[in-house]
Amino acid sequence: MAEKIPFADARILVVDDEETNVHALTRILRAAGYVNVLWTTDPRTVASLYQKHDPDVILLDLHMPHLDGIGVLRQLRVIMRPQAYVPVLVLTGDYTPEARRRALSEGAKDFLTKPFEVDEVLLRIRNLLETRYLHREITTQNQLLEKRVRERTVELEGAYLDTLERLASAAEFRDDETGRHTERVGEVAALLGGALDMPEEDLFLIRRAAPLHDVGKIGIPDAILRKPGPLTGEEWEVMKTHADIGARILSGGRSRVVQMAEEIARYHHEQWNGEGYPHGVSGEAIPLSGRLVMVADVYDALTSDRVYREAWPTEMVLAYIREHAGQRFDPRVAALCDRPDVRGMLLDVRQRETSKPTAQRIA
Ligand SMILES: [Fe+2]
Repeated sequence: MAEKIPFADARILVVDDEETNVHALTRILRAAGYVNVLWTTDPRTVASLYQKHDPDVILLDLHMPHLDGIGVLRQLRVIMRPQAYVPVLVLTGDYTPEARRRALSEGAKDFLTKPFEVDEVLLRIRNLLETRYLHREITTQNQLLEKRVRERTVELEGAYLDTLERLASAAEFRDDETGRHTERVGEVAALLGGALDMPEEDLFLIRRAAPLHDVGKIGIPDAILRKPGPLTGEEWEVMKTHADIGARILSGGRSRVVQMAEEIARYHHEQWNGEGYPHGVSGEAIPLSGRLVMVADVYDALTSDRVYREAWPTEMVLAYIREHAGQRFDPRVAALCDRPDVRGMLLDVRQRETSKPTAQRIA
């Protein structure tokens, strides 16, 4: 049995208007061992044959009626996929340097004049197929690598966001063992941001950054944080330092989510009228993320049971936010509580669960 030639199953498309030429070429190719030889005598069908059969190499005549070889090369350039590499070998009776120059400049990869040496044609075809297969292999490998990089990136991002979530619950665990308050603050802040038409990307960030607003409570002594009774003035002063402690813990972050978390930790107790803490900043000098979390934090805390008081009914909390618009809260954010769609979403966040009472204070 004859030895199988390399690329024996390559798809070879022969294009020549002379049927005798087509038959001669296909006979040579089949005799050499190529099993997938296609042909056409009508150059106008090349585009559809290319799309249907995805040939590995094309043998193309130059002078043909209706559409010459140059026209075919141009058509192929338009329809080929950007990454595709399909070598074209021009076989022509036109031996003028002009024909060779034009064919090569229009994208042909090789050029032979008729009458040709059978061995030479076969060698050139083999060389072109070698390039085609190498190209295909490299493209496949690149796609595989890109896919792996994408998968790794998604995995890393997931691990990173996961770590942030755990950091938020570590801080919360000390005074709210249910661990859902911080998460809901993220949810509500993003919901309010969405109602203000914040860009999608910022909503993604605030949703993940807001749960870290109280991370600075890690630095507050248990005697104050878990004190069952009311805090003394001095103890409140210590409690208020959690905003700056949190900002310090998160400072210098390189990712946008940690940068936003730092901003939120620092500003989430600043009030619109400047009477908040830690720095008494007012109005729009408080970043929007801080103003949103201020409302989200109060909303969630007041609608939750505490060991020292029962949860307020949602309508009462919304009324409280409205009453303090322009004082404690950014009036634009507070006004969202009047919008039926926002109220509906806020109620929904709350109704999805009933938490166990905790000792946590709004601080
Ligand atoms: Fe706080």
